Amino acid sequence: MATKESVAVLAIMFFVLFVQIMAGRDFYKILGVSKKATTNEIKKAYRKLAKEMHPDKNRDDPEAEERFQDLGAAYEALSDADKRKVYDKHGEEGLGKSNMDGGDVFSSFFGGDFSFFGGGMHQEDNEGPKGGDVIMDLEVTLEELYSGNFIEVLRYKSVSKPAKGTRKCNCRTEMVTTQLGPGRFQMQQQQVCDDCPNVKFVPEEKTLEVEIEPGMRDGQEYPFVAEGEPHIDGDPGDLRFKIKQQKHARFERRGDDLYTNVTISLVDAMIGFEMDIPHLDGHIVHIVRDKITWPGAKMRKPHEGMPNYENNNVKGNLFITFDLEFPKGVLTDEQKEALRKLLNQDSKQRIYNGLQGY
Ligand SMILES: *[C@@H]1O[C@H](CO)[C@@H](O)[C@H](O)[C@H]1NC(C)=O
Repeated sequence: MATKESVAVLAIMFFVLFVQIMAGRDFYKILGVSKKATTNEIKKAYRKLAKEMHPDKNRDDPEAEERFQDLGAAYEALSDADKRKVYDKHGEEGLGKSNMDGGDVFSSFFGGDFSFFGGGMHQEDNEGPKGGDVIMDLEVTLEELYSGNFIEVLRYKSVSKPAKGTRKCNCRTEMVTTQLGPGRFQMQQQQVCDDCPNVKFVPEEKTLEVEIEPGMRDGQEYPFVAEGEPHIDGDPGDLRFKIKQQKHARFERRGDDLYTNVTISLVDAMIGFEMDIPHLDGHIVHIVRDKITWPGAKMRKPHEGMPNYENNNVKGNLFITFDLEFPKGVLTDEQKEALRKLLNQDSKQRIYNGLQGY
């Protein structure tokens, strides 16, 4: 016997279920980011999870494929500012089912093949012919190497498409015997080929996304497997981006340490000073000094260098070298006398080897 209450409870349960289905998937939860996450944070989260959740890495888990698709769909919706706005307002329903399968985002991130970060994942194919590897310099700023960034690279490449007719392939040299007439044979070497379906190379545009991770070093390579030169009879080569760090106006980098020069006035050098140095991500490094600063004086600020690539929580040092700007012109006799009294420094000269320190 169903009481009124139990009917009501059942109705509420159905309603909750209905609302959950209507609301679609929670893309923020899937990516594990907050609703306020920046696009870079979303990309970062996706990249990390995609590596962990790739079905090739979770062969024992029957739901891996589906979870991976959810992840791709979440990334597709939230990484695009317009789609994200729609999603925030109307949920997944608002985006429509059409292009939300999350299928192809993975390859723009990681290239056609999953193998490069798995190490052991790559099935060693029998060494067939392979297209050439392409190495491209990718210029990045020191700011990008400090904070990390995602760089979109538009790649035009030729991809093979089926074409009409056949082409000669697998050619080799064989001995062929032909009968020239009764009792007359001729044996000769001949090129023998198979007929393969014809292909043509057509240029195709593709956006590749390169993640500049904090602390990456000049010269470091970033591979996209199978995005290199195509080969008509085999696999394409790889595309590798080589990180090239641009010169920076204020900082120089050595390993994980940063170096900068600061010119101060003679007055500041004498009486002390406070100053702010804007860092690569805009945060301020505050400097206070009340002692006298001499030309060439160095100051070390621990933890204000570059983040270490292997462990971003570790940072190098910032070394600041001071340089003095002297006033120009001539002082009056009174000023000279006042200064002499004030500084009370013996007038002494030391002559030494001019090459010392070079
Ligand atoms: C600082 O000054 C030294 C000496 O003039 C120079 O070699 C170095 O490149 C400068 N560093 C920066 C970051 O400009």
